[in-house]
Amino acid sequence: MQVHVHSPSLTSLRRLAKALQRGALVAIPTETVYGLAAHALDAKACRAIFRAKRRPANDPLIVHVLDLAQAEQLAEFNDTARRLARRFWPGPLTLVLPKKNLVPGVVTSGGPTVAIRAPSHPLARRLLRLAKIPLAAPSANLFGYISPTTAEHVREGLGRRIPHLLDGGACPVGVESTVLDVTNPGKARILRPGAVTADQLGRFLGRKVPTARSRHPQAQQLAPGMLERHYSPRTPLVLRRPAGKLPTGVAAVFLRPPGKKNLPHAFWLSRRGALKEVARNLYEVLRRADAGGYRQIWVEPLPAEGGGLAAAIHDRLKRAAARKRGR
Ligand code: TXA
Ligand code: MG
Repeated sequence: MQVHVHSPSLTSLRRLAKALQRGALVAIPTETVYGLAAHALDAKACRAIFRAKRRPANDPLIVHVLDLAQAEQLAEFNDTARRLARRFWPGPLTLVLPKKNLVPGVVTSGGPTVAIRAPSHPLARRLLRLAKIPLAAPSANLFGYISPTTAEHVREGLGRRIPHLLDGGACPVGVESTVLDVTNPGKARILRPGAVTADQLGRFLGRKVPTARSRHPQAQQLAPGMLERHYSPRTPLVLRRPAGKLPTGVAAVFLRPPGKKNLPHAFWLSRRGALKEVARNLYEVLRRADAGGYRQIWVEPLPAEGGGLAAAIHDRLKRAAARKRGR
């Protein structure tokens, strides 16, 4: 199979909406990362997602909807969840809620809850509107590898494994959505930090919103995406501020350009250290460093307490740096 890359004309959007209705896989841009979408109510189509990604069946999918009304057909909302959806949708907040019967077990890996979000990317929204169906979509990469933020990234990983790819350019946010467990509204907690921050959620709900600790075995069952090692380049990645002369075979990734501009084997994540820019560039830069044939990639750590997007970026870097364990 060779993927057909579509430009976002109305004709191709209509064609892709039809393909989705018929059960085909389509990689689509969202504001966070590219997703590998399928008809969420079609168990067979959803099983094909797991095969294409080589994703283990016990890692449930996120369902993408146009709005709260569509989401309420799939999940049991409580008042807190409704308020959150009204405030943060469309946008990078995924809500975990009790699922309704309509949602096939394959989507939730047999579990009683479903993860739902309404993406804000205009192309994702246009497709959802045309297709009139909810779309199950994990990130459009092979399982465990760095998530894709451009159509080219998707082609590199899945180009021979999926039929359709909608090219919407680079994703504006660049890291995955915040996954928030609201099954128990009084005890909402973050399963995966993302673009909607704990501070924003806490301010809105009027109480502190904790982040589940990933090492906790229960947390791993809840969100296998919180596996310690995830979002990883093939080249071993070390969180370590590069200083002085680099050892041979080491690539250095800085938060902002190093003083010496033509430093060899140096990459940087932003021009001035702005976290939004770091998030947007993170996966592209890690992929470039990974393709450079290095022995190791050293990445300048950023403080997890930096506020805003720092927690999400820190979380992804920590997982990318975790040692491979039997995988
Ligand atoms: O920004 C995003 O969330 C992107 C775009 C495409 O929407 N999607 C994404 O999907 O990152 P994925 O499959 O790569 O990550 C989904 C995360 C995983 O950590 C998964 O374990 C968790 O959400 N998840 C899905 N369903 C869940 C559920 N019912 N309970 C707890 N966690 C769940
Ligand atoms: Mg993923």
